[in-house]
Amino acid sequence: MAPARHALTVNGRSVTVEAAPGTRLLYVLRNDLALNGPKYGCGLGQCGACTVLVDGRALRSCAIPLRAAVGRRIVTLEGLAEGGRLHPVQEAFIAENAAQCGYCLNGMIMTAVALLTADPDPGEAEIRAGLQANLCRCGTHIEILRAVRAAAARMREGAGPGGEA
Ligand code: FES
Ligand code: FES
Repeated sequence: MAPARHALTVNGRSVTVEAAPGTRLLYVLRNDLALNGPKYGCGLGQCGACTVLVDGRALRSCAIPLRAAVGRRIVTLEGLAEGGRLHPVQEAFIAENAAQCGYCLNGMIMTAVALLTADPDPGEAEIRAGLQANLCRCGTHIEILRAVRAAAARMREGAGPGGEA
């Protein structure tokens, strides 16, 4: 289809992009809006590297056509920090050294944020289930699970999206 203008809300900002309605949201975020937090992994909705929040749900932006994103509240990795402070989930991933190559981390972090927003006190089984569809080829799973548990504890203590306790 021919390119058309689409009004989006991304990281709290209203933006307009011109692209074909079927263009995948991932390409719009990275190529039109220079938001490179979401990564291209498989392009097939299977690895989770491209995850963003859409109305608070962790969804795969490589599988979302642009037309389906209109009117939704989209948050990317770049939109998690507030007031110059990282989100507690981001801080926990740093503190726990939960990265090797780091390619999966966008998806892990965005999925963890959605998980902890819905369930502030998940058990080990819930965390594993919540992240099981996010692939990490480096085998950093132990550190990632530790980071999510630490972030959950920090958030229950009152740390906000900007990390304030
Ligand atoms: S790049 Fe979207 S799920 Fe793999
Ligand atoms: S840290 Fe490399 S893919 Fe997860």
